[in-house]
Amino acid sequence: MKYTAIANTGVEVSPIGFGTVKIGRDLGVKYPDTFTIPDDQQVLKLLDICRELGINTLDPPPAYGNSEQRLGQLLKSAQRQQWIISSKAGEEFDPLSGASNYDFSERAITASVERSLRRLDTDYLDIVMIHSNGDDLQIIEQHLALQTLAKLKQQGKIRAIGMSTKTIDGGIAALQQADCAMVTYNLMHRQELAVIEYAQRHNKGIFIKKAFASGHLQQQQYDDPILSSLKLIFAQPGVSSAVIGTINQRNLRENVQKYQRAISEISL
Ligand SMILES: NC(=O)c1ccc[n+]([C@@H]2O[C@H](COP(=O)([O-])OP(=O)(O)OC[C@H]3O[C@@H](n4cnc5c(N)ncnc54)[C@H](OP(=O)(O)O)[C@@H]3O)[C@@H](O)[C@H]2O)c1
Repeated sequence: MKYTAIANTGVEVSPIGFGTVKIGRDLGVKYPDTFTIPDDQQVLKLLDICRELGINTLDPPPAYGNSEQRLGQLLKSAQRQQWIISSKAGEEFDPLSGASNYDFSERAITASVERSLRRLDTDYLDIVMIHSNGDDLQIIEQHLALQTLAKLKQQGKIRAIGMSTKTIDGGIAALQQADCAMVTYNLMHRQELAVIEYAQRHNKGIFIKKAFASGHLQQQQYDDPILSSLKLIFAQPGVSSAVIGTINQRNLRENVQKYQRAISEISL
């Protein structure tokens, strides 16, 4: 798989990334079917398949239950260099209430990043994005959350900074101050294309979340919703990586196989 450099940070990501919601949390999630959180052996097997297939990018933010603690224990420090760890800060998930709390203050963001470093047993994070609650511009302009990440980057704790946004204006504003953004872009949600195009024009990175509409595509009228999704996404040269959430080994392999087929069919 051809890796993509994120802005001028030196961070190189695989076109398919490994989303970890289902490794750390089964409460407050929007998947069509219930699922059992995989045990350590199953998670190690999924990570082995990722490595075998060339997937190097993992997305375990604190809001995904204990996925970052689990990866911190399961990822041997010897292998640390082989993985791109893309974390987030700003959202905390409370399993008791089943709801998320948000705090974008400098104190909270800094404490969250320091905690992620400890939990993941590493002295740097490859990517950290602000985990927006949707008030993208307020988080950027009033909480100055990206400036907080920029300070942590200067301290060598983060290699690339960004924001997982929910609005077009927010995505573009984030890219004006950061190295990358994470946006939703799929067959059922194409509104944020302008953010992807802005990133391409300005050599910034783009991560796609909900590439398969969190599993709700199956119900739609597509012959092959997985292939159609990947062709839509990778037809955009501005896309660096699609972070896909799966705990199914067969689906993990299929997604890479269909990615290869998608790019071979897309005449870029
Ligand atoms: N605000 C944010 O920053 C934000 C929000 C949402 C998501 N994300 C990130 O983006 C990642 C992906 O988003 P997502 O997990 O919501 O949804 P998604 O990647 O669009 O879809 C995941 C769903 O699709 C199913 N799936 C995956 N491959 C499949 C295949 N080949 N055939 C059939 N079904 C398949 C998975 O089930 P199986 O497990 O059975 O494969 C799972 O239910 C997350 O894991 C997270 O890392 C970030």
